[in-house]
Amino acid sequence: MKSISGFSKLSKTGKLRWVAENFFKAPKLVASELTSFWHGDNHQQKVFDDFSENTLSNYYMPYGVAPNFIINGKTYCIPMVIEESSVVAAAASSAKFWATRGGFKAEIIGTTKIGQVHFTWEGSSEKLNAIFPDLKAALHEKSADLTKNMRNRGGGILSIDLIDMTHLEENYYQLKVKFETCDSMGANFINSVLERFGQILQTFMFSSPAMKGKERDVIIIMAILSNYTPECLVRAYVECPIEDLGTFDGGKTSAELFAYKFDKAVKIANIDPYRATTHNKGIFNGIDAVVLATANDFRAVEACGHTYAARDGQYRSLTKTSIENGIFKLWLDIPMAVGTVGGLTSLHPLAKRSLEMLGNPSAKDLMSIIATVGLAQTFAAVKSLTTTGIQKGHMKMHLMNILNHLEATEKEVNQAVEYFKERIVSFTSVREFLNNSREVVVINN
Ligand code: MEV
Repeated sequence: MKSISGFSKLSKTGKLRWVAENFFKAPKLVASELTSFWHGDNHQQKVFDDFSENTLSNYYMPYGVAPNFIINGKTYCIPMVIEESSVVAAAASSAKFWATRGGFKAEIIGTTKIGQVHFTWEGSSEKLNAIFPDLKAALHEKSADLTKNMRNRGGGILSIDLIDMTHLEENYYQLKVKFETCDSMGANFINSVLERFGQILQTFMFSSPAMKGKERDVIIIMAILSNYTPECLVRAYVECPIEDLGTFDGGKTSAELFAYKFDKAVKIANIDPYRATTHNKGIFNGIDAVVLATANDFRAVEACGHTYAARDGQYRSLTKTSIENGIFKLWLDIPMAVGTVGGLTSLHPLAKRSLEMLGNPSAKDLMSIIATVGLAQTFAAVKSLTTTGIQKGHMKMHLMNILNHLEATEKEVNQAVEYFKERIVSFTSVREFLNNSREVVVINN
């Protein structure tokens, strides 16, 4: 494989040509294919190009919607960006199911975010604790210029704590800082404040008359937000009398049996990490799709969700169920650090439209919407798993992918959809079906 120095300094076309020529058998074809995915409007393309380094083209993903979501009595049409067949359909079917059973409910449990300044210091922790009140005052005072706008919006620094970690790592301490970042995800704000805190801490210790010799030297290891935000938490839930659940799988599964199996399925995900991982993946199918559609940071949301799922030391289901006094309840508690201002939310044209479609929500509203879609998604997945099985619906959607791959005509698509209604879909079976029908056409001609 070829390598190159100064790649980032090449023009976009130069980069594209270099990649096409060095890694593909048909460079001209590949270059023109990649170019064909450029946006028709140069100005818009420049905006996409500037999101990242070394952009060659745009990578298309389906942008769909799941309508009829009732959340806290309000109806939403929810934008979703996802490539996996059946995720949007599943969300939409859950939305329809719960619309006639009281809809989804969501409540914000907290919105606090966290950042840390990690540092080492060789003095005694008593001495550090003794000067901490003065240090804390200096941290607030000397970062006031950075926090002013956020304070005006009702947010800012909530608390600053000194954490002694020396029992785990020699000389290691943290400043643990809690923030309220209002409608922004707040990463840039938090990181700017933390980096300033690092400087303030060093200067403060260096110039403190109470410190002697080595005590004046603080080594800042790093200053960065934590993507683990267990206090930026939302709960989404659904509940209804068991008999209102109705029957499933053409009447084969009664409401009682469904509630029993669903409850057990969630409990299994709670005790078995193998199942928990797949169960939570089903939740993130919905969550990631909305996080992406609104240009939020899906890696942060995922990382945090998985840490939260393992908060007691074992990886568990993010959802819980209860069956009490004849009421079936399913709920999802999930940390959700997202924003509706700042970042790419207004730079990405479709993210902007997504937010508009959602009625320009506050960050709290968006937390509720995203958690609800995660809940809806797992409801649909576990409903299928505990009744018909997942493959029936899944392969029906996948059929279109296979037909597109095999370049089926519209007529062939219609015939295949009819033929596979009651048959097992696989790549081989679809190819055989198409080959057979194409042979028949040739013979008849
Ligand atoms: C597939 O993308 C997601 C599921 O596996 C989730 C689950 O098993 O709960 C169906």
